[in-house]
Amino acid sequence: KVVAVIMVGGPTKGTRFRPLSFNIPKPLFPLAGQPMVHHPISACKRIPNLAQIYLIGFYEEREFALFVSSISNELKVPVRYLKEEKPHGSAGGLYNFRDLIMEDSPSHIFLLNCDVCCSFPLPDMLEAHRRYGGMGTILVIKVPPESANQFGELVADPVTNELLHYTEKPETFVSDHINCGVYVFTPDVFAAIQGVSTQRKDRANLRRVSSFEALQLPNRSLPADFVRLDQDILSPLAGKKQLYTYETMDFWEQIKTPGMSLRCSALYLAQFRFTSPHILATGDGIKSATITGDVYIHPSAKVHPTAKIGPNVSISANARIGAGVRLVNCIILDDVEIKENAVVIHAIVGWKSMIGRWSRVQAEGDYNAKLGVTILGESVSVEDEVVVINSIVLPNKTLNLSVQEEIIL
Ligand code: GDD
Repeated sequence: KVVAVIMVGGPTKGTRFRPLSFNIPKPLFPLAGQPMVHHPISACKRIPNLAQIYLIGFYEEREFALFVSSISNELKVPVRYLKEEKPHGSAGGLYNFRDLIMEDSPSHIFLLNCDVCCSFPLPDMLEAHRRYGGMGTILVIKVPPESANQFGELVADPVTNELLHYTEKPETFVSDHINCGVYVFTPDVFAAIQGVSTQRKDRANLRRVSSFEALQLPNRSLPADFVRLDQDILSPLAGKKQLYTYETMDFWEQIKTPGMSLRCSALYLAQFRFTSPHILATGDGIKSATITGDVYIHPSAKVHPTAKIGPNVSISANARIGAGVRLVNCIILDDVEIKENAVVIHAIVGWKSMIGRWSRVQAEGDYNAKLGVTILGESVSVEDEVVVINSIVLPNKTLNLSVQEEIIL
């Protein structure tokens, strides 16, 4: 049997995702019309002999309850949310629930970060992992060298794929191959995490009993039960024939900012074209709006037939899109109203917001720039004929004057 664990973090993480994470835990923010964590969960469904999927995080349980029960029904795989009392780090969180995870006596455990967007080639990884015969296999990808330092950089043996060297977010360049945040392990990983934890406890005790030795030791003030997968497990185990890599040639992105969520929404919509084209809007029928490229429209949204929509647009529940509206590369969240002839380009429009007639909400569309995508928080009103360019607007604001390159607090 196989078990999958998805690390979802908690409210003190994901701060770069503001203002969108004010309303909803980041893992539930919709990409291509589905909660972020829906995408890795549905990828897990393709793992042979999958017994359970666990989401581990320190958000309140009630925030995930509805999602977990509806996705379990939809995919016919049991999904459970496990709440940590406090953050234990990416490996400590897993270790904290080892007894539950081992209940099904799994031979393998997948571990996935919730904030990565990729094709999750999990069955292929598992097959490679069995061939390598190590404790763990890491999904890796080659990225442009100038962006590698935002991730864990690693070096692998080109023939055996063994992980030879690993450094988390190094200051000087190590490699353009990076850690994708998707792993498969044997249950031996628990012993490795326990080893780190025990070492920490011993060091802390030593510091207490001997002040002389304490001076010789670096003061690592991390608590014994806080273990990071990357720095504390991957780095020390590199080059010991226990960890291997599996390289993906598909797409991969990390979702830390609202701007990147727009980019990832596009990647998942494009994937739907191959995996589940029925989810995408077709634009067929006399009452349908004009659709170009990949577009998702929730069945409860009302879109006027004279609107023109796409490419890369996702429209959530109960949104109302008026006559002559133009939407390009944007995410429109629940209960938004966009009035006649308004234009939205490279933007995310928050829950219950309103955009007035002939208004424009737009940006240049640079996903990595701070103001490269315009973001409206919840319940923002943009009055008629107002232009909002390259800006972030916090919740509950009313804009009656045009703004450019501004953060409206
Ligand atoms: N439950 C729980 N508890 N989850 C956590 C905790 C914790 O204490 N700490 C982090 N996470 C989750 C986050 O929500 C995220 O999904 C994942 O673990 C990794 O988060 P970080 O540890 O903050 O690392 P990162 O995202 O900056 O970088 C990691 O992922 C990159 C790929 O996206 C590293 O492993 C990098 O090497 C890697 O390139």
